[in-house]
Amino acid sequence: MRLAGKVALITGAGSGMGRAAASLFAREGAKVAAVDINEASAKDTVAAIAREGGEAFAMRVDVSNSEDARAMCDETVRRFGGLDIQYNNAGIEGEGGFLAQLSEEAFDRVIAINLRGVWLGMKYALPHMIERGGGSIINTASVAGLVGIKGAAAYCAAKAGVISLTRVAAIEYGRYKIRVNCICPGVIDTPMVERVSEEGGVTAQANDRLSVLGRIGKPEEIARTALFLASDEAGFATGAPFVIDGGWVAR
Ligand SMILES: NC(=O)c1ccc[n+]([C@@H]2O[C@H](COP(=O)([O-])OP(=O)(O)OC[C@H]3O[C@@H](n4cnc5c(N)ncnc54)[C@H](O)[C@@H]3O)[C@@H](O)[C@H]2O)c1
Repeated sequence: MRLAGKVALITGAGSGMGRAAASLFAREGAKVAAVDINEASAKDTVAAIAREGGEAFAMRVDVSNSEDARAMCDETVRRFGGLDIQYNNAGIEGEGGFLAQLSEEAFDRVIAINLRGVWLGMKYALPHMIERGGGSIINTASVAGLVGIKGAAAYCAAKAGVISLTRVAAIEYGRYKIRVNCICPGVIDTPMVERVSEEGGVTAQANDRLSVLGRIGKPEEIARTALFLASDEAGFATGAPFVIDGGWVAR
């Protein structure tokens, strides 16, 4: 088992890629804190882990709220005795619409959850990891942080910001043996993509291009990348965006 004895906190663990990672990390021996703003969905993830003999607890957390972000890290340490891996994965697609049409509220909401939430997650995880003597942080960015996507100004800006935050955290905390990386998924088959495809929003355009492999990705394929970054196998990887997009940005 690649994460035996490790403690992992995963945000957005009630759905999509977060749920896939929570299950995979638990199968690889980690104790998992499955947090989500949708508590029922996080509990479902925990129940699935328990059925497979894994150990996990669920918690309702809004990652954009600093009290919640602090509480999720503190509670994980209280229950499991430390924190080794934090996967800041929660995010929203936000409203579609060209930049000048976007409301201030819609812009602020995407930045609050997708960017500020990642910063808060790191802010409150880092002291625990320093105390532990090291750790691995994985943030969810997106190919949207590398290229522009029409109708997704706030989303693209937030995801580019996550790549930048990842670099800064890596160079500031490398001395404490804390590695910080981010994943830039392409189009992945999750409830988020189902929603935006139906609305003809953010990824209707992305869906045209999909990937050079002729299919969209599976949540488990991103979870496997996260597992690699969480594990000691990625011991020399830090400060980097890992693009897992079926070749989308290569064209
Ligand atoms: N699906 C894709 O194609 C794709 C591509 C690139 C990046 N991403 C990113 O991957 C991450 C996971 O997305 P997904 O596709 O699995 O989506 P999803 O909607 O299936 O899952 C996201 C989860 O985050 C939770 N969440 C939303 N706001 C929250 C908040 N404020 N606090 C805590 N939890 C919150 C939701 O309840 C949900 O369970 C997101 O950051 C998303 O932006 C997705």
